[in-house]
Amino acid sequence: MTGPSFRDAELEGWDRKAGYWDDTIGLVTLGAIDPLMEAVGATLGVRVLDIACGTGSLAATAARRGADVIGMDFAPTMIAEAIRRHPGVDFRVGDAEAIPLADASVDAATCSFGMLHMERPERVLAEVVRVLRPVTGRFALTSWTPDGEFFALVGQAVQPHADMGVPLPLAPPLFRFGDEGECRSALLAAGFAEPSFKKLPLVWTGDTPQAVLDALHRGTVRTPMLIEAQTPEIRHAIEQAILRGSERYRQPAGNIVLKWPALLTTARRR
Ligand SMILES: C[S@@+](CC[C@H](N)C(=O)[O-])C[C@H]1O[C@@H](n2cnc3c(N)ncnc32)[C@H](O)[C@@H]1O
Repeated sequence: MTGPSFRDAELEGWDRKAGYWDDTIGLVTLGAIDPLMEAVGATLGVRVLDIACGTGSLAATAARRGADVIGMDFAPTMIAEAIRRHPGVDFRVGDAEAIPLADASVDAATCSFGMLHMERPERVLAEVVRVLRPVTGRFALTSWTPDGEFFALVGQAVQPHADMGVPLPLAPPLFRFGDEGECRSALLAAGFAEPSFKKLPLVWTGDTPQAVLDALHRGTVRTPMLIEAQTPEIRHAIEQAILRGSERYRQPAGNIVLKWPALLTTARRR
């Protein structure tokens, strides 16, 4: 295949979209922060690595709880935004496939909606095992489950119109880490023990169908790659379908609410 790898395409996309994150999908991922903190016991003095930290909300929360936290992301503008929003927290540019930390140097690792973006997740899990302290080190990750209303809405708009044969980088399955069985196998194979699971009933709330479309274009990378590769006519048809479909989720109070559930997975390093 010619063209960028999935990793490089994601890096380019996230680097361009960092400034929009907190006003789009970042509004949904905020709801996973406390469950992730509880899952790894991020309290006073605990050394925490937040992998794929984005604009840093989770790392900043961990720091407020007294944890000794590092936020790491491979997109330099995400890290610049994190530093701007949360001065005083330790943020670093780094790739989850080659974590720039010593072996057995952290008590806990979190990855909030990052694993689904990793081109080589097995390599990432091996790196998490390497940097966690043996036996006591805890890892918690969140990932979207396939039953969310946003994904249904976008899927129903894309499928009838899109040319799925357009050239795109080969992407890993979007919902792999939203599946308990897949998570259990991947974590046990990587060197973790005692995986446990919890469904998080996250939601997105906005005012207009345009806000839903903006969340898609500005707060995600993978689907916009597909939409931008279409002809202008097909792109228009997909966007109109999303705008029309969003109205189905309008509440009596007037706002649009989309159920956006996630799976929280927690495990201990063997
Ligand atoms: C969906 S955002 C999640 C941001 C944040 N964790 C949150 O929950 O709000 C995904 C993040 O993963 C980062 N990312 C993707 N692949 C990565 C990799 N290989 N190494 C480090 N960060 C990565 C992106 O730059 C982006 O900031």
